[in-house]
Amino acid sequence: VMATAPTDWRSWPPEQKEALHARLKERLKARAWRKQARPAQIPPPIWNTILLRGGRGSGKTWAGAHILAEMIRESKQPGEWAVIAPTYRDARDTCIEGEAGLLAAFGTTRGEVESKRSTVVDIWNRSLGELRLFDGSVVFLDGADDGAYRIQGKNLSGAWCDEIGLWRRWKDAWDESLAYATRKGKAQIVATGTPKRNMPARKLVRRLLNDPAVVSRRLRTRDNMENLSPAILAIIEKTEGTVLGRQELEGELLEDVEGALWRREWIDMHRVDAPPATEYRATAVALDPADGTEDGAEQAICVAGLALDNDYYIAVSEGHRDLTQVQWITRALGLCQAYSATLVVEANHGGQALIALIEMVMGQTGVRVPLRKVVASTGKATRAEPVAALYEGGAVRTNGRVRHIGEFPELEEQMTTWIPVEQRAQGAGRSASPDRCDALVWAMRHLMGYGAPPGYGGAEPAGVVPYTDGGSGVVQWS
Ligand SMILES: Nc1ncnc2c1ncn2[C@@H]1O[C@H](COP(=O)(O)OP(=O)(O)OP(=O)(O)O)[C@@H](O)[C@H]1O
Ligand SMILES: [Mg+2]
Repeated sequence: VMATAPTDWRSWPPEQKEALHARLKERLKARAWRKQARPAQIPPPIWNTILLRGGRGSGKTWAGAHILAEMIRESKQPGEWAVIAPTYRDARDTCIEGEAGLLAAFGTTRGEVESKRSTVVDIWNRSLGELRLFDGSVVFLDGADDGAYRIQGKNLSGAWCDEIGLWRRWKDAWDESLAYATRKGKAQIVATGTPKRNMPARKLVRRLLNDPAVVSRRLRTRDNMENLSPAILAIIEKTEGTVLGRQELEGELLEDVEGALWRREWIDMHRVDAPPATEYRATAVALDPADGTEDGAEQAICVAGLALDNDYYIAVSEGHRDLTQVQWITRALGLCQAYSATLVVEANHGGQALIALIEMVMGQTGVRVPLRKVVASTGKATRAEPVAALYEGGAVRTNGRVRHIGEFPELEEQMTTWIPVEQRAQGAGRSASPDRCDALVWAMRHLMGYGAPPGYGGAEPAGVVPYTDGGSGVVQWS
Protein backbone atom coordinates (compact mmCIF):
# COMPACT_ATOMS: atom_id res chain seq x y z
CA VAL A 1 0.00 0.00 0.00
CA MET A 2 2.67 2.46 1.09
CA ALA A 3 5.14 1.71 -1.68
CA THR A 4 2.73 2.24 -4.54
CA ALA A 5 1.05 5.37 -3.15
CA PRO A 6 2.05 8.52 -5.01
CA THR A 7 4.11 10.97 -2.97
CA ASP A 8 1.60 13.83 -3.42
CA TRP A 9 -1.07 12.06 -1.41
CA ARG A 10 -1.83 15.32 0.38
CA SER A 11 -3.54 16.53 -2.77
CA TRP A 12 -5.81 13.46 -2.95
CA PRO A 13 -9.58 13.85 -2.80
CA PRO A 14 -10.89 13.36 0.75
CA GLU A 15 -12.58 10.00 0.14
CA GLN A 16 -9.31 8.56 -1.25
CA LYS A 17 -7.44 9.88 1.78
CA GLU A 18 -10.02 8.35 4.06
CA ALA A 19 -9.71 5.01 2.32
CA LEU A 20 -5.94 5.05 2.76
CA HIS A 21 -6.33 6.07 6.37
CA ALA A 22 -8.77 3.21 6.99
CA ARG A 23 -6.39 0.74 5.36
CA LEU A 24 -3.50 1.94 7.46
CA LYS A 25 -5.58 1.68 10.60
CA GLU A 26 -6.65 -1.82 9.67
CA ARG A 27 -3.04 -2.73 9.02
CA LEU A 28 -1.97 -1.41 12.40
CA LYS A 29 -4.69 -3.49 14.03
CA ALA A 30 -3.71 -6.55 12.03
CA ARG A 31 -0.13 -6.14 13.13
CA ALA A 32 -0.71 -5.24 16.76
CA TRP A 33 0.14 -8.81 17.81
CA ARG A 34 3.70 -8.30 16.63
CA LYS A 35 4.44 -6.11 19.65
CA GLN A 36 3.68 -9.01 21.91
CA ALA A 37 5.46 -11.61 19.75
CA ARG A 38 9.01 -12.79 20.21
CA PRO A 39 11.24 -12.06 17.18
CA ALA A 40 11.29 -15.71 16.13
CA GLN A 41 7.49 -15.68 15.89
CA ILE A 42 7.41 -12.85 13.32
CA PRO A 43 7.83 -13.61 9.62
CA PRO A 44 10.26 -11.53 7.52
CA PRO A 45 8.86 -8.86 5.13
CA ILE A 46 8.86 -11.22 2.17
CA TRP A 47 8.09 -14.89 2.43
CA ASN A 48 6.18 -17.61 0.69
CA THR A 49 6.34 -20.58 3.01
CA ILE A 50 7.51 -20.29 6.60
CA LEU A 51 8.29 -23.16 8.94
CA LEU A 52 8.10 -22.41 12.65
CA ARG A 53 9.43 -25.45 14.36
CA GLY A 54 9.85 -25.48 18.05
CA GLY A 55 9.64 -27.22 21.35
CA ARG A 56 6.46 -28.06 23.19
CA GLY A 57 4.69 -24.95 24.42
CA SER A 58 7.14 -22.68 22.65
CA GLY A 59 4.38 -20.62 21.04
CA LYS A 60 4.05 -22.29 17.63
CA THR A 61 0.27 -22.36 17.56
CA TRP A 62 0.00 -18.80 18.87
CA ALA A 63 2.32 -17.59 16.12
CA GLY A 64 0.60 -19.64 13.41
CA ALA A 65 -2.82 -18.28 14.37
CA HIS A 66 -1.63 -14.68 14.44
CA ILE A 67 0.24 -14.93 11.16
CA LEU A 68 -2.87 -16.36 9.47
CA ALA A 69 -5.12 -13.74 11.08
CA GLU A 70 -2.78 -11.03 9.85
CA MET A 71 -2.76 -12.44 6.31
CA ILE A 72 -6.54 -12.55 6.25
CA ARG A 73 -6.92 -9.02 7.59
CA GLU A 74 -4.37 -7.58 5.20
CA SER A 75 -5.67 -9.40 2.15
CA LYS A 76 -6.97 -6.99 -0.48
CA GLN A 77 -9.94 -9.16 -1.38
CA PRO A 78 -11.85 -11.64 0.74
CA GLY A 79 -10.44 -15.05 -0.04
CA GLU A 80 -10.45 -18.72 0.86
CA TRP A 81 -8.08 -19.85 3.56
CA ALA A 82 -7.30 -23.16 5.20
CA VAL A 83 -6.28 -24.48 8.58
CA ILE A 84 -4.96 -28.02 8.53
CA ALA A 85 -3.99 -29.92 11.66
CA PRO A 86 -3.20 -33.62 12.21
CA THR A 87 -6.91 -34.34 12.75
CA TYR A 88 -10.08 -32.36 12.15
CA ARG A 89 -10.60 -32.27 15.87
CA ASP A 90 -7.17 -30.70 16.44
CA ALA A 91 -7.96 -28.06 13.84
CA ARG A 92 -11.27 -27.27 15.50
CA ASP A 93 -10.33 -27.49 19.18
CA THR A 94 -6.77 -26.18 19.12
CA CYS A 95 -6.31 -24.07 16.00
CA ILE A 96 -9.67 -22.32 16.02
CA GLU A 97 -11.10 -22.52 19.53
CA GLY A 98 -7.93 -23.05 21.57
CA GLU A 99 -6.49 -20.40 23.85
CA ALA A 100 -3.82 -19.67 21.24
CA GLY A 101 -6.13 -20.28 18.26
CA LEU A 102 -7.54 -18.21 15.45
CA LEU A 103 -10.62 -16.88 17.27
CA ALA A 104 -8.34 -15.56 20.00
CA ALA A 105 -6.05 -14.07 17.37
CA PHE A 106 -9.05 -12.24 15.92
CA GLY A 107 -9.72 -10.96 19.42
CA THR A 108 -12.94 -12.88 19.84
CA THR A 109 -14.30 -16.08 21.37
CA ARG A 110 -16.65 -18.87 20.40
CA GLY A 111 -19.30 -17.55 22.78
CA GLU A 112 -19.07 -14.05 21.36
CA VAL A 113 -19.43 -15.37 17.79
CA GLU A 114 -22.36 -17.61 18.67
CA SER A 115 -24.20 -14.80 20.39
CA LYS A 116 -23.56 -12.55 17.38
CA ARG A 117 -21.46 -10.12 19.35
CA SER A 118 -18.26 -10.51 17.35
CA THR A 119 -17.43 -7.73 14.90
CA VAL A 120 -14.97 -9.87 12.92
CA VAL A 121 -16.36 -13.39 12.73
CA ASP A 122 -19.85 -13.83 11.33
CA ILE A 123 -20.34 -17.60 11.44
CA TRP A 124 -18.33 -20.35 13.07
CA ASN A 125 -19.68 -23.69 11.90
CA ARG A 126 -17.85 -26.23 14.02
CA SER A 127 -19.32 -29.30 12.32
CA LEU A 128 -18.74 -28.15 8.74
CA GLY A 129 -15.39 -26.68 9.64
CA GLU A 130 -16.03 -23.25 8.21
CA LEU A 131 -15.27 -19.89 9.71
CA ARG A 132 -16.92 -17.02 7.83
CA LEU A 133 -15.84 -13.45 8.40
CA PHE A 134 -17.93 -10.35 7.87
CA ASP A 135 -15.63 -9.23 5.06
CA GLY A 136 -16.54 -12.36 3.08
CA SER A 137 -13.41 -14.41 3.79
CA VAL A 138 -13.84 -18.10 4.61
CA VAL A 139 -11.48 -20.29 6.56
CA PHE A 140 -11.83 -24.02 5.87
CA LEU A 141 -10.67 -26.62 8.38
CA ASP A 142 -9.35 -30.04 7.60
CA GLY A 143 -7.42 -32.94 9.10
CA ALA A 144 -4.21 -34.18 7.51
CA ASP A 145 -4.99 -37.70 8.70
CA ASP A 146 -8.04 -37.63 6.42
CA GLY A 147 -5.78 -36.53 3.58
CA ALA A 148 -7.19 -32.97 3.82
CA TYR A 149 -9.30 -33.75 0.76
CA ARG A 150 -11.95 -31.17 1.62
CA ILE A 151 -9.65 -28.33 0.63
CA GLN A 152 -8.68 -29.83 -2.73
CA GLY A 153 -11.21 -27.94 -4.80
CA LYS A 154 -10.48 -24.62 -3.11
CA ASN A 155 -8.48 -21.74 -4.42
CA LEU A 156 -6.58 -20.74 -1.33
CA SER A 157 -5.04 -17.38 -0.60
CA GLY A 158 -3.12 -18.90 2.25
CA ALA A 159 -2.98 -21.73 4.74
CA TRP A 160 -1.79 -22.54 8.21
CA CYS A 161 -0.66 -26.09 8.85
CA ASP A 162 -0.25 -26.94 12.53
CA GLU A 163 1.82 -29.79 13.99
CA ILE A 164 3.01 -30.93 10.57
CA GLY A 165 5.44 -33.25 12.35
CA LEU A 166 2.45 -35.38 13.35
CA TRP A 167 0.81 -35.62 9.93
CA ARG A 168 0.69 -39.32 9.19
CA ARG A 169 -0.77 -38.80 5.71
CA TRP A 170 1.43 -35.85 4.80
CA LYS A 171 1.87 -37.00 1.21
CA ASP A 172 -1.87 -36.78 0.58
CA ALA A 173 -2.41 -33.69 2.69
CA TRP A 174 0.59 -31.62 1.67
CA ASP A 175 1.66 -32.88 -1.74
CA GLU A 176 -1.83 -33.48 -3.08
CA SER A 177 -4.53 -31.53 -1.29
CA LEU A 178 -2.59 -28.42 -0.30
CA ALA A 179 -0.57 -28.33 -3.52
CA TYR A 180 -3.77 -28.59 -5.56
CA ALA A 181 -5.54 -25.88 -3.59
CA THR A 182 -2.63 -23.46 -3.93
CA ARG A 183 -1.79 -24.12 -7.58
CA LYS A 184 -3.35 -20.84 -8.78
CA GLY A 185 -2.17 -17.52 -7.48
CA LYS A 186 0.42 -17.33 -4.77
CA ALA A 187 -0.76 -18.61 -1.44
CA GLN A 188 1.42 -18.18 1.58
CA ILE A 189 1.77 -21.23 3.79
CA VAL A 190 2.73 -21.12 7.45
CA ALA A 191 3.72 -24.48 8.89
CA THR A 192 4.17 -24.98 12.61
CA GLY A 193 5.06 -27.92 14.79
CA THR A 194 7.49 -29.91 16.86
CA PRO A 195 9.42 -32.17 14.47
CA LYS A 196 9.04 -35.79 15.49
CA ARG A 197 11.77 -38.09 14.31
CA ASN A 198 9.57 -41.14 14.83
CA MET A 199 6.77 -39.92 12.60
CA PRO A 200 6.53 -40.40 8.83
CA ALA A 201 6.20 -36.63 8.39
CA ARG A 202 9.81 -36.09 9.45
CA LYS A 203 10.47 -36.39 5.70
CA LEU A 204 8.23 -33.40 5.08
CA VAL A 205 9.96 -31.45 7.86
CA ARG A 206 13.37 -32.40 6.49
CA ARG A 207 12.30 -31.35 3.01
CA LEU A 208 11.10 -27.96 4.19
CA LEU A 209 14.29 -27.44 6.21
CA ASN A 210 16.40 -28.23 3.14
CA ASP A 211 14.37 -25.99 0.84
CA PRO A 212 16.17 -22.64 0.50
CA ALA A 213 12.88 -21.00 -0.51
CA VAL A 214 11.31 -21.87 2.84
CA VAL A 215 11.92 -19.45 5.72
CA SER A 216 12.70 -21.52 8.78
CA ARG A 217 12.51 -20.40 12.39
CA ARG A 218 13.17 -22.17 15.64
CA LEU A 219 11.22 -21.52 18.84
CA ARG A 220 12.51 -22.65 22.20
CA THR A 221 10.29 -23.73 25.03
CA ARG A 222 12.44 -21.88 27.57
CA ASP A 223 11.89 -18.59 25.75
CA ASN A 224 8.16 -18.86 26.40
CA MET A 225 8.63 -19.61 30.09
CA GLU A 226 6.21 -16.99 31.41
CA ASN A 227 3.29 -18.42 29.41
CA LEU A 228 3.78 -22.09 30.11
CA SER A 229 1.25 -24.50 31.57
CA PRO A 230 2.17 -26.93 34.37
CA ALA A 231 2.03 -29.77 31.82
CA ILE A 232 4.78 -28.19 29.73
CA LEU A 233 6.83 -27.35 32.83
CA ALA A 234 6.68 -31.05 33.70
CA ILE A 235 8.04 -31.92 30.26
CA ILE A 236 10.91 -29.49 30.80
CA GLU A 237 11.61 -31.05 34.16
CA LYS A 238 11.73 -34.51 32.63
CA THR A 239 13.55 -33.98 29.37
CA GLU A 240 15.84 -30.98 29.72
CA GLY A 241 19.40 -32.01 28.99
CA THR A 242 18.44 -35.32 27.41
CA VAL A 243 18.44 -36.29 23.78
CA LEU A 244 14.65 -36.24 23.79
CA GLY A 245 14.78 -32.72 25.19
CA ARG A 246 16.50 -31.53 22.06
CA GLN A 247 13.39 -32.57 20.18
CA GLU A 248 10.73 -31.68 22.73
CA LEU A 249 12.16 -28.40 23.99
CA GLU A 250 14.42 -27.13 21.21
CA GLY A 251 12.43 -28.26 18.20
CA GLU A 252 15.41 -30.06 16.77
CA LEU A 253 14.80 -32.70 14.14
CA LEU A 254 16.78 -35.62 15.51
CA GLU A 255 17.89 -38.18 13.00
CA ASP A 256 20.18 -40.42 14.97
CA VAL A 257 20.83 -40.85 18.63
CA GLU A 258 24.41 -41.48 19.53
CA GLY A 259 24.89 -44.92 21.01
CA ALA A 260 21.61 -46.29 19.65
CA LEU A 261 21.93 -49.67 17.93
CA TRP A 262 19.96 -48.76 14.80
CA ARG A 263 20.25 -45.84 12.47
CA ARG A 264 17.24 -44.30 10.87
CA GLU A 265 18.68 -44.59 7.36
CA TRP A 266 19.22 -48.35 7.66
CA ILE A 267 15.47 -48.70 8.05
CA ASP A 268 14.48 -46.05 5.52
CA MET A 269 16.83 -47.33 2.83
CA HIS A 270 15.12 -50.68 2.43
CA ARG A 271 11.57 -49.82 3.31
CA VAL A 272 8.87 -51.17 1.00
CA ASP A 273 5.16 -50.50 0.58
CA ALA A 274 3.99 -54.04 -0.02
CA PRO A 275 4.79 -57.58 1.09
CA PRO A 276 7.42 -59.49 -0.94
CA ALA A 277 6.54 -60.85 -4.34
CA THR A 278 8.02 -64.21 -3.33
CA GLU A 279 6.70 -66.45 -0.61
CA TYR A 280 8.14 -66.63 2.86
CA ARG A 281 10.55 -69.43 3.70
CA ALA A 282 9.81 -68.89 7.34
CA THR A 283 7.72 -66.56 9.44
CA ALA A 284 7.71 -65.74 13.11
CA VAL A 285 5.40 -64.02 15.54
CA ALA A 286 7.32 -62.90 18.61
CA LEU A 287 5.90 -61.66 21.87
CA ASP A 288 7.32 -59.42 24.51
CA PRO A 289 5.17 -59.23 27.60
CA ALA A 290 4.60 -56.08 29.61
CA ASP A 291 6.09 -57.09 32.91
CA GLY A 292 4.00 -54.53 34.72
CA THR A 293 6.94 -53.09 36.57
CA GLU A 294 7.59 -50.24 34.20
CA ASP A 295 5.40 -47.31 33.32
CA GLY A 296 4.05 -47.49 29.84
CA ALA A 297 5.22 -51.01 29.18
CA GLU A 298 3.41 -52.60 26.29
CA GLN A 299 2.40 -56.08 25.33
CA ALA A 300 4.36 -56.17 22.11
CA ILE A 301 3.88 -58.37 19.07
CA CYS A 302 6.13 -58.50 16.04
CA VAL A 303 5.55 -60.44 12.82
CA ALA A 304 8.59 -60.99 10.62
CA GLY A 305 9.32 -63.21 7.66
CA LEU A 306 12.29 -64.50 5.71
CA ALA A 307 11.29 -64.48 2.06
CA LEU A 308 12.53 -66.65 -0.78
CA ASP A 309 14.47 -63.66 -2.05
CA ASN A 310 16.47 -63.94 1.19
CA ASP A 311 15.33 -60.58 2.44
CA TYR A 312 13.76 -60.23 5.87
CA TYR A 313 10.45 -58.44 6.15
CA ILE A 314 8.88 -56.82 9.17
CA ALA A 315 5.16 -57.12 8.54
CA VAL A 316 3.52 -56.18 11.82
CA SER A 317 4.54 -54.37 14.98
CA GLU A 318 1.97 -53.81 17.66
CA GLY A 319 1.98 -52.67 21.25
CA HIS A 320 -1.07 -53.15 23.43
CA ARG A 321 -1.83 -51.60 26.78
CA ASP A 322 -5.40 -52.49 27.40
CA LEU A 323 -5.72 -56.15 26.44
CA THR A 324 -5.90 -58.93 28.95
CA GLN A 325 -3.17 -61.55 28.66
CA VAL A 326 -5.66 -63.92 27.03
CA GLN A 327 -6.80 -61.31 24.51
CA TRP A 328 -3.22 -60.50 23.66
CA ILE A 329 -2.35 -64.17 23.17
CA THR A 330 -5.46 -64.68 21.07
CA ARG A 331 -4.39 -61.79 18.88
CA ALA A 332 -0.92 -63.33 18.48
CA LEU A 333 -2.36 -66.74 17.61
CA GLY A 334 -4.52 -65.09 14.96
CA LEU A 335 -1.42 -63.52 13.45
CA CYS A 336 0.33 -66.90 13.55
CA GLN A 337 -2.52 -68.34 11.53
CA ALA A 338 -2.61 -65.44 9.09
CA TYR A 339 1.13 -65.68 8.44
CA SER A 340 1.58 -69.45 8.97
CA ALA A 341 4.08 -68.41 11.58
CA THR A 342 5.89 -69.94 14.51
CA LEU A 343 5.18 -68.29 17.84
CA VAL A 344 8.40 -67.26 19.54
CA VAL A 345 8.24 -66.75 23.29
CA GLU A 346 10.89 -66.05 25.87
CA ALA A 347 10.74 -68.70 28.54
CA ASN A 348 12.63 -67.01 31.34
CA HIS A 349 11.61 -63.95 33.38
CA GLY A 350 8.26 -65.41 34.22
CA GLY A 351 7.92 -66.65 30.68
CA GLN A 352 6.91 -70.10 31.95
CA ALA A 353 3.64 -68.70 33.19
CA LEU A 354 3.07 -67.05 29.82
CA ILE A 355 3.79 -70.29 28.01
CA ALA A 356 1.38 -72.16 30.24
CA LEU A 357 -1.25 -69.56 29.40
CA ILE A 358 -0.51 -69.81 25.67
CA GLU A 359 -0.90 -73.57 25.84
CA MET A 360 -4.14 -73.15 27.67
CA VAL A 361 -5.50 -70.69 25.10
CA MET A 362 -4.41 -73.00 22.28
CA GLY A 363 -6.21 -75.84 23.97
CA GLN A 364 -9.37 -73.83 24.47
CA THR A 365 -9.52 -72.19 21.05
CA GLY A 366 -8.22 -75.16 19.10
CA VAL A 367 -5.80 -72.84 17.34
CA ARG A 368 -2.56 -74.79 17.48
CA VAL A 369 0.58 -73.16 16.18
CA PRO A 370 4.25 -74.14 16.32
CA LEU A 371 5.76 -72.73 19.48
CA ARG A 372 9.38 -71.87 19.91
CA LYS A 373 10.52 -71.31 23.44
CA VAL A 374 13.68 -69.30 23.71
CA VAL A 375 15.80 -68.55 26.71
CA ALA A 376 17.72 -65.32 26.93
CA SER A 377 21.23 -66.45 27.75
CA THR A 378 22.79 -63.08 27.03
CA GLY A 379 22.01 -59.44 27.68
CA LYS A 380 19.62 -57.46 25.58
CA ALA A 381 22.36 -55.63 23.72
CA THR A 382 24.26 -58.80 22.82
CA ARG A 383 21.04 -60.27 21.54
CA ALA A 384 20.11 -57.21 19.53
CA GLU A 385 23.50 -56.39 18.01
CA PRO A 386 23.51 -59.07 15.28
CA VAL A 387 20.03 -57.99 14.24
CA ALA A 388 21.16 -54.37 14.03
CA ALA A 389 24.23 -55.53 12.09
CA LEU A 390 21.95 -57.27 9.62
CA TYR A 391 20.07 -54.02 9.05
CA GLU A 392 23.36 -52.23 8.50
CA GLY A 393 25.07 -54.96 6.47
CA GLY A 394 22.01 -55.29 4.29
CA ALA A 395 23.30 -52.24 2.50
CA VAL A 396 26.00 -54.38 0.87
CA ARG A 397 23.71 -57.33 0.24
CA THR A 398 25.48 -60.18 1.94
CA ASN A 399 22.88 -61.51 4.28
CA GLY A 400 19.81 -60.06 2.72
CA ARG A 401 18.18 -56.85 3.67
CA VAL A 402 15.74 -56.16 6.44
CA ARG A 403 12.72 -54.42 4.99
CA HIS A 404 9.93 -52.76 6.88
CA ILE A 405 6.62 -53.09 5.08
CA GLY A 406 5.23 -49.61 5.64
CA GLU A 407 6.06 -47.46 8.63
CA PHE A 408 6.14 -48.49 12.27
CA PRO A 409 6.63 -45.18 14.07
CA GLU A 410 6.66 -46.52 17.63
CA LEU A 411 8.87 -49.49 16.85
CA GLU A 412 11.30 -47.40 14.85
CA GLU A 413 11.41 -44.79 17.59
CA GLN A 414 12.47 -47.49 20.02
CA MET A 415 15.03 -48.97 17.65
CA THR A 416 16.71 -45.66 16.92
CA THR A 417 16.67 -44.28 20.45
CA TRP A 418 17.18 -47.24 22.72
CA ILE A 419 20.69 -47.15 24.08
CA PRO A 420 21.80 -50.36 25.77
CA VAL A 421 22.58 -49.76 29.45
CA GLU A 422 26.28 -50.40 28.91
CA GLN A 423 26.54 -47.56 26.39
CA ARG A 424 24.27 -45.13 28.12
CA ALA A 425 25.66 -41.79 29.23
CA GLN A 426 23.95 -39.99 32.08
CA GLY A 427 20.50 -38.88 31.03
CA ALA A 428 20.91 -39.94 27.42
CA GLY A 429 18.54 -42.04 25.41
CA ARG A 430 15.28 -43.50 26.44
CA SER A 431 14.90 -45.33 29.68
CA ALA A 432 11.65 -47.17 29.09
CA SER A 433 11.99 -50.80 28.16
CA PRO A 434 11.76 -51.08 24.36
CA ASP A 435 9.07 -53.75 24.18
CA ARG A 436 8.38 -53.58 20.46
CA CYS A 437 12.06 -53.61 19.74
CA ASP A 438 12.53 -56.68 21.96
CA ALA A 439 9.78 -58.51 20.10
CA LEU A 440 11.42 -57.63 16.80
CA VAL A 441 14.76 -58.94 18.01
CA TRP A 442 13.22 -62.26 19.05
CA ALA A 443 11.38 -62.65 15.74
CA MET A 444 14.49 -61.79 13.74
CA ARG A 445 16.76 -64.03 15.81
CA HIS A 446 14.43 -66.90 15.16
CA LEU A 447 14.51 -66.27 11.42
CA MET A 448 18.27 -65.69 11.32
CA GLY A 449 18.83 -69.07 12.83
CA TYR A 450 16.29 -70.65 10.60
CA GLY A 451 18.82 -71.91 8.10
CA ALA A 452 20.62 -69.49 5.90
CA PRO A 453 20.25 -70.00 2.16
CA PRO A 454 22.89 -72.08 0.36
CA GLY A 455 26.13 -70.20 0.04
CA TYR A 456 25.46 -68.07 3.05
CA GLY A 457 27.51 -70.13 5.45
CA GLY A 458 25.40 -72.68 7.24
CA ALA A 459 22.53 -72.55 9.62
CA GLU A 460 23.57 -69.68 11.81
CA PRO A 461 24.80 -66.48 10.18
CA ALA A 462 28.22 -65.46 11.49
CA GLY A 463 28.10 -63.50 14.70
CA VAL A 464 24.78 -64.81 15.87
CA VAL A 465 24.73 -65.89 19.47
CA PRO A 466 22.95 -69.27 19.44
CA TYR A 467 19.71 -69.73 21.26
CA THR A 468 19.16 -71.85 24.20
CA ASP A 469 16.00 -73.52 23.09
CA GLY A 470 13.53 -74.44 25.75
CA GLY A 471 13.27 -77.84 24.09
CA SER A 472 9.93 -79.41 24.82
CA GLY A 473 6.47 -78.26 24.03
CA VAL A 474 6.85 -77.60 20.30
CA VAL A 475 3.48 -78.02 18.72
CA GLN A 476 3.56 -78.77 15.00
CA TRP A 477 1.09 -77.50 12.47
CA SER A 478 -1.76 -79.89 12.13
N1 LIG B 1 4.38 -14.08 22.21
C1 LIG B 1 3.49 -14.54 23.11
N2 LIG B 1 2.94 -13.71 23.99
C2 LIG B 1 2.07 -14.14 24.91
N3 LIG B 1 1.68 -15.41 25.04
C3 LIG B 1 2.19 -16.29 24.19
C4 LIG B 1 3.13 -15.91 23.18
N4 LIG B 1 3.48 -17.03 22.49
C5 LIG B 1 2.78 -18.03 23.04
N5 LIG B 1 2.01 -17.60 24.05
C6 LIG B 1 1.17 -18.43 24.92
O1 LIG B 1 1.97 -19.51 25.39
C7 LIG B 1 1.21 -20.69 25.51
C8 LIG B 1 1.80 -21.78 24.63
O2 LIG B 1 1.74 -21.34 23.29
P1 LIG B 1 1.26 -22.30 22.11
O3 LIG B 1 0.08 -23.07 22.48
O4 LIG B 1 1.24 -21.49 20.88
O5 LIG B 1 2.54 -23.24 22.07
P2 LIG B 1 2.81 -24.52 21.16
O6 LIG B 1 4.25 -24.46 20.83
O7 LIG B 1 1.84 -24.56 20.05
O8 LIG B 1 2.53 -25.65 22.23
P3 LIG B 1 2.19 -27.21 22.04
O9 LIG B 1 3.51 -27.89 21.92
O10 LIG B 1 1.47 -27.56 23.30
O11 LIG B 1 1.34 -27.30 20.79
C9 LIG B 1 -0.19 -20.32 25.09
O12 LIG B 1 -0.93 -20.04 26.24
C10 LIG B 1 -0.01 -19.08 24.25
O13 LIG B 1 -1.14 -18.26 24.26
MG1 LIG C 1 0.46 -26.04 19.46
